[in-house]
Amino acid sequence: MQQPDPAALPLESKASLLSGGDFWSTQSLGEADVRAVVLTDGPHGVRRQKADADHLGFHASEPATCFPPAVAVGSSWDVELAARVGEAVGREARALGVGVILGPGVNIKRSPLCGRNFEYYSEDPLLSGILGAAFVRGLQAQGVGAAVKHFAANNQETDRMRVSADVDERPLREIYLAAFERIVTEARPAAVMAAYNRINGVPASENRWLLTDVLRAEWDFEGVVVSDWGGVGDRVAALAAGLDLQMPGPDAANDAAIVRAVRAGLLDEAVVDASVRRVAGLAEPAVAPEPDETVPAEHHALARELAADCVVLLKNDEHTLPLAAGVRLAVIGEFAADPQFQGGGSSLINATRVDTPLEAIQALGHTVTYAAGFTTGGEDPEALRAEAVRAARGAEVAVIFVGLRGETEGVDREHIDLPADQVVLLRAVAAVASRTVVVLSTGGVVSLEGWHDDVDAIVAGWLLGQASGGALADVLSGVVNPSGRLAETIPLRLEDTPSYLTFPGEAGHVRYGEGVMVGYRHHETVGRAVRYPFGHGLSYTTFSTGDLAVDVTGDDTAIVRVTVTNTGERPGKHVVQAYVATTAGRVRRPARELRAFTKVALRPGESSTVQLPLDRRAFAYYDIEAGQWAVAPGTYTVQIGESATRIVAEQTVTLPGDTAATALSLDSALGDWFAHPVAGPLLREALMAGATEEQRRQGEANSDLMDMVASIPARQFLHFPGVPVSTDDLTEILEATR
Ligand code: BGC
Repeated sequence: MQQPDPAALPLESKASLLSGGDFWSTQSLGEADVRAVVLTDGPHGVRRQKADADHLGFHASEPATCFPPAVAVGSSWDVELAARVGEAVGREARALGVGVILGPGVNIKRSPLCGRNFEYYSEDPLLSGILGAAFVRGLQAQGVGAAVKHFAANNQETDRMRVSADVDERPLREIYLAAFERIVTEARPAAVMAAYNRINGVPASENRWLLTDVLRAEWDFEGVVVSDWGGVGDRVAALAAGLDLQMPGPDAANDAAIVRAVRAGLLDEAVVDASVRRVAGLAEPAVAPEPDETVPAEHHALARELAADCVVLLKNDEHTLPLAAGVRLAVIGEFAADPQFQGGGSSLINATRVDTPLEAIQALGHTVTYAAGFTTGGEDPEALRAEAVRAARGAEVAVIFVGLRGETEGVDREHIDLPADQVVLLRAVAAVASRTVVVLSTGGVVSLEGWHDDVDAIVAGWLLGQASGGALADVLSGVVNPSGRLAETIPLRLEDTPSYLTFPGEAGHVRYGEGVMVGYRHHETVGRAVRYPFGHGLSYTTFSTGDLAVDVTGDDTAIVRVTVTNTGERPGKHVVQAYVATTAGRVRRPARELRAFTKVALRPGESSTVQLPLDRRAFAYYDIEAGQWAVAPGTYTVQIGESATRIVAEQTVTLPGDTAATALSLDSALGDWFAHPVAGPLLREALMAGATEEQRRQGEANSDLMDMVASIPARQFLHFPGVPVSTDDLTEILEATR
């Protein structure tokens, strides 16, 4: 049966569809056969509230599996894993009657202080975009839509509903929009959520350049643009800019404002119609929700399997890990018995069950003495510490579980230190234990300084979801060989991070002064030492990398082939990281940038040759003058790294690049005129008209003179005494270039 066109409805009915029906649903409209769709957080689980609703995680939600949050998935560097999280969340969403999951969050970790970094994948846009696209594909294959968020430049929580992220276009395109671009163009999400903040002064929700020119015209987005909850200021301006759906709803006043604006001729009804069709289209997913099914119990085991592959082994001196069978253990730290496995705010999942590391370690057959060592509630630390030190003395290995509580949406962190009493405990235990292993449960990076060298092994467990206990036990005991890699740099000092001086801004503005030099791009370019670089992560086996071959395959594309071998004694997974380093082009390039990666599983002694295609974008920068991506002619070094710092193989290739000459104008600099294949010779000839042979020879020999005048705009050059060229001459040459 033909669906009635919702755009044929009376204007009032149409406007009512453009704000929600309630806190979590779109409006239904019987006369047009439009049914309500439930949109709900995630993204690492389903936060379906049936009774009291809120967007900050205060009220309860239906039980659902809490899968590893994005901070963990980012560290997996595993595309298939990200897709499996999406699929599993999609299955539960359908069971809970949810049509759209509000995620993934793909904002860039600009500063380690951002309070929501646990909800984001990485400081790198390629890693964020590829993992985000995989999540969206997995989710949408279940017939549940994704709302990719927060579009765009929502990189802090401080003043998040007003602050203007002041970002130049090149970092916007190369760093902050790139993950969204990949997801929109490759995975076709059902929705994009506009961020709360402003971008260069204009609210994201009213930003026509962002929501229409870039998102729809350049990237061909056909889905719904939904507001963040409560993120609409001027409803009519937002609609005109491209924001279809205001959430939550209903909002009779704003619906009426839309009607008035159309009647007053201030808003084209066609804009309303287009948005209405898109919002009504949300209710037509490939597969309808199947409410009242149950959340699959086997998802807990899945959550454990996925979580273990997100763990990053940072340090492992003298093979402290994995723990030998039967070794006497002191398990220390409140986080062992009461794990921190997710952050707070809108992504808070009501987990179906929770594993503790302590029970999981015991269940794997280890003999354990437990001591809390500290409490995050602040009870007498000295007595607890003394008990922990005693336990450590009597054990062969002390495993200390430390971390952060209270990381949440809405608040940024003020520093990157662990709580002081935890650091005192770490040092006291390390001083007496024969071996000390530290397990970190944090949503963001913490400093390892002051105790790093005192301990034998460090495991970054991030926030791993409800099965974190089992997953950590699997890694510690070697049931799973760790294969995570850092998706963000661990600096030596907060002061070393590129946004240190500008985060979180002042007087309503945050200036992204570091430009494209975000995360490792900064550290590698300025040669700043860090504690552990982006991409770092150890394994219980060893890998070698060889036989790198880079073949240029066509117009500024290449294919990388490299062989990796498991040279150790255990099966393991290795992440092949391909970076591109260049100084080509007229802009400052980062020392290297991640351009492709893949994760391979290898048995002991096994080799695999992986192929990584590098598309044009892998070599390009965003040329703000031309308003497009540009590949500069020149040399490019493809580097295979075990991290952004440790390069193990490299090969340089030459690319033709974009040879089309840039368009000239009277305001172009003389250097550009001289470099132009048509205008250059003509201008030289015009300048030399009437010169003697000797003067010509001198002119050609004197390159310093050329360098000195290169920056003078042609129009202004004409006014210097003795310049034998007029505006008419230049206009004539310009004609010749067209
Ligand atoms: C958050 C979004 C979330 C929404 C609904 C907002 O506070 O920024 O990420 O999806 O609430 O809970």
